Amino acid sequence: MNRLLLVSNRLPVSIEKRKGEYQFRQSVGGLATGLRSVCHSYKTTWVGWCGFPRDKLDAKTIREIELRLMTEVDSFPMFLYKKDIKRYYHGFSNRTIWPLFHYFTDYVVYDNELWESYVKINNEFCDTVVKIADEDDVIWVHDYHLMLLPRLLRERLPDIPIGFFLHIPFPSFEIFRLLPWRKELLKGLLGADLIGFHTYDYVRHFLSSVRRLLGYEHTFGQVSAGNRIVKVDAFPMGIDYERFANAMEEPETRREVSRLLKKKGNRKIILSVDRLDYTKGILQRLESFDLFLDKYPEYKEKVTLIMIAVPSRTGVDTYFQLKKKVDELVGRINGKHGIIGWIPVWYLYRSLPIQILTAFYYIADVALVTPLRDGMNLISKEFIATKSDTPGVLILSEMAGASAELGEALIVNPNNKEAVADKIKEALELSPEEQMARNREMQKRLRRYNVVQWSQDFMERLSAFKKLQAKLLERKLSLEVKKRIINDYQKSTSRLLLLDYDGTLITFAERPEKAQPDYELLKQIDALARNPHNEVVLISGRDKETLDRWFGSLNVGLIAEHGVWYKERGAEWTTLEPMRSDWKDEIRPILQLYVDRTPGSFLEEKDFSLVWHYRRTLPDLAEVRVRELKDALINLTENLNLGVLEGNKVIEIKSPGITKGVASLRWISKKEWDFILAVGDDLTDEDMFRALPEGAYSIKVGLSPSQAKYTAESVGEVRLLLKELEREDYALSGGL
Ligand code: UDP
Ligand code: G6P
Repeated sequence: MNRLLLVSNRLPVSIEKRKGEYQFRQSVGGLATGLRSVCHSYKTTWVGWCGFPRDKLDAKTIREIELRLMTEVDSFPMFLYKKDIKRYYHGFSNRTIWPLFHYFTDYVVYDNELWESYVKINNEFCDTVVKIADEDDVIWVHDYHLMLLPRLLRERLPDIPIGFFLHIPFPSFEIFRLLPWRKELLKGLLGADLIGFHTYDYVRHFLSSVRRLLGYEHTFGQVSAGNRIVKVDAFPMGIDYERFANAMEEPETRREVSRLLKKKGNRKIILSVDRLDYTKGILQRLESFDLFLDKYPEYKEKVTLIMIAVPSRTGVDTYFQLKKKVDELVGRINGKHGIIGWIPVWYLYRSLPIQILTAFYYIADVALVTPLRDGMNLISKEFIATKSDTPGVLILSEMAGASAELGEALIVNPNNKEAVADKIKEALELSPEEQMARNREMQKRLRRYNVVQWSQDFMERLSAFKKLQAKLLERKLSLEVKKRIINDYQKSTSRLLLLDYDGTLITFAERPEKAQPDYELLKQIDALARNPHNEVVLISGRDKETLDRWFGSLNVGLIAEHGVWYKERGAEWTTLEPMRSDWKDEIRPILQLYVDRTPGSFLEEKDFSLVWHYRRTLPDLAEVRVRELKDALINLTENLNLGVLEGNKVIEIKSPGITKGVASLRWISKKEWDFILAVGDDLTDEDMFRALPEGAYSIKVGLSPSQAKYTAESVGEVRLLLKELEREDYALSGGL
């Protein structure tokens, strides 16, 4: 990679005009703070809006700002007019997508004018990125302001690696479907090669919307989007752990800590920090604190809530109104409970530099982080990291993405004010030893998967996936390959055709018993099987009774239950079963890795098999891990000829006794074939592909990783090919 092009609405710094001068101010919000740390690991250029209206800038100032941003923070600014800021940023981004994706459906504005501005600005971002991108750059687009950008870029830069990361929740299908422009947004995102979310829930919601709205299926976290594949996965964003853990090494933080400790005296401090945003549950939090003081009056004068509310999106009316309500409520609580010498809520409406903010984390006894909905929430992680040598309790909303990782915090439903009030009391009474013990567990995880690890993980997966895409593209069943197959078929006299059934010759039906062969198909197979130069074998996972019922009258060989049973033409059903276990040392570490990565799973070792059990794992996580594991095993068992079988909440890796591969070998080794064609679509067919001799043709239906030499796009394409063989055959035998 030459350079990483980060693209987001907001740059790491925003421009402000103070005392007639244009000055840079550090941007707040998780995206800006998180990605700032990523910049140190790569050569980056960051493209984004400078935060100031273009209408107020002359050409000379624009050039000066551009130059300063490029030299001081490697950033390339976008300049937006007031009208676009109103419609694209305050409008579609923050009055449509933001409230909808955070489940605030009453706040959502559906307005075509706002949408058109969103389309226009996404196109402007595209023009800028295309202008500065080199062909060996990697582009990483961030967040909900730019969901159309991956596709726009893909059209102009077809081969460049494009990643996308969403920093907010992806809502459930029932919410997402409310959006009139829902398909456009999904298609926009699918222009990326890799799409990342904070949690598996968001991944699941996205995949379900893609399937239900666009009809694209997914396997192994891969979406087959027409002629491309796109990878979707969870990457929980981390923080710059060491910076917070070593906060006290910073002189400014130390000074602030001693200043705050003097003010604090013997009182306990509860800390609340957020952008002033309705998703953060600030009003509900204040009401819970009010209730806490009512319910547990013995804590009056002993506890202070420090509430830091950072000004945010003040141009959006819902934010403006929230500010008024928070001001009023803070006043009401202080008026109700306060006495001379004790103010229950210290309220700061401003943004703090990180050195000062960490001092607040350091001196706080409790962090009260109770968003009603939050994509991740870095504040909670930063608080825990800062508590490396001092106790502190995190009360965390279960609606924050971070709660999936910070299970040792006191988890609470932010809408349940009684419960929040009780958790505050519990937190204040938790012993320091218990506080430190809980925090240590969370610190271990936060240290390991820090923000640099997060970005590296994303970049590595993007690059691996690009390689996979390239490999798949080389294997498409082109016209030239089809001609070669037909040509070789014509020249040969001893042909073996190994054909899987479900998903290869017939598309999957809702219910398996409904997938019986149609008349056309039976006619095709019959025509191929009648040719004395051909041996046709149907190789299936179905039971022998079904195969007998459907194909018993044709002159074909049959393999049932993935190779357990086989039947030569005109003969009876028979079985076969060899065993070995010398492969285990190579596979065991892989399974162990999956045990480590998947809470609730364990490894069982038997004489001839290794079994990964996941019954006690969260179902959504299990679903993803199963796909990943099977995917990994295909590659890792490449030369080992192993069977990977999925059972009920287990994945079993077996000695190669019973597979479609062994069963196919029986036919392959029967005689000298001068033409072999094997076609299949799922994992069990991989064994068959592996068993084929050098010159054989193998075709996999679908764009997922495979041992097959070629890939067909659909069942229709396979059937067309068989029809063409049959036609050629007919012509050769004098039928024309
Ligand atoms: N932050 C800051 N100064 C403040 C308050 C917050 O720099 O006065 C930073 C904080 O360190 C954190 C980010 O803003 O990294 C907030 O991220 P979070 O994910 O919690 O919420 P978001 O604002 O992105 O919704
Ligand atoms: C959230 C969003 C970011 C955004 C930040 C601050 O973290 O995910 O994309 O930058 O809030 O909001 P703002 O509108 O000021 O950029």
